[in-house]
Amino acid sequence: MLLQIPEVLNTAQIAECRKVLGQVEWADGRITAGYQSAQVKHNLQLPEDHPAARRLGDIILAALEKNPLFMSAALPLKVFPPLFNCYREGQGFGAHIDNAIRQVKGTPHRVRTDVSATLFLSNPDEYDGGELVVEDTYGSHGIKLPAGSMILYPAGSVHHVTAITRGERLAAFFWVQSMVKSDEERSLLFNLDTAIQSIARELPQHAAGVQLTGLYHNLLRCWGDA
Ligand code: NI
Repeated sequence: MLLQIPEVLNTAQIAECRKVLGQVEWADGRITAGYQSAQVKHNLQLPEDHPAARRLGDIILAALEKNPLFMSAALPLKVFPPLFNCYREGQGFGAHIDNAIRQVKGTPHRVRTDVSATLFLSNPDEYDGGELVVEDTYGSHGIKLPAGSMILYPAGSVHHVTAITRGERLAAFFWVQSMVKSDEERSLLFNLDTAIQSIARELPQHAAGVQLTGLYHNLLRCWGDA
């Protein structure tokens, strides 16, 4: 499932990220790439253990915890600490699939990457090119969102970032290990949850609301890990 999550960060949080990222020293993006993706990755990245990455990452993690759409769609068990990248003119990232398991640097913790997330920190009018293109069974989807908004996509998808022809594109990216590993099952739960919320709003007294909520939790019990 491809899902846009609008306004994950507010204006002040976006400004803080932009201010900090405007002052950092970027490293070569290949520091976190696997063998195949290193061949096609041309961008800049903040080292995982950079204090700025940790500080801004914590702002994003706190915002995600309060975002009901993210919680419902991703059903997060673990979230990889957000990383930050910068694409400048001529830079892009060719077709690849993200590594399945990632170790959190300097810790014994590993995260299985079920859901990939890109949180845009530049506005679309600040750069040309730089589209995130995700492929699924319906074809290729080009994604470019306002600063502060985020796209979720299945981490098993082939994707690429088209070359920048003007300006600079800043983004945060990270992965989620979901309580529900299967994208298909997670999508079914998300659709059910969305329908339950709509019934709760429009028919708050209806007994079916209790039954459907029970069904949701019993499916989560079948499919989920904690
Ligand atoms: Ni990727």
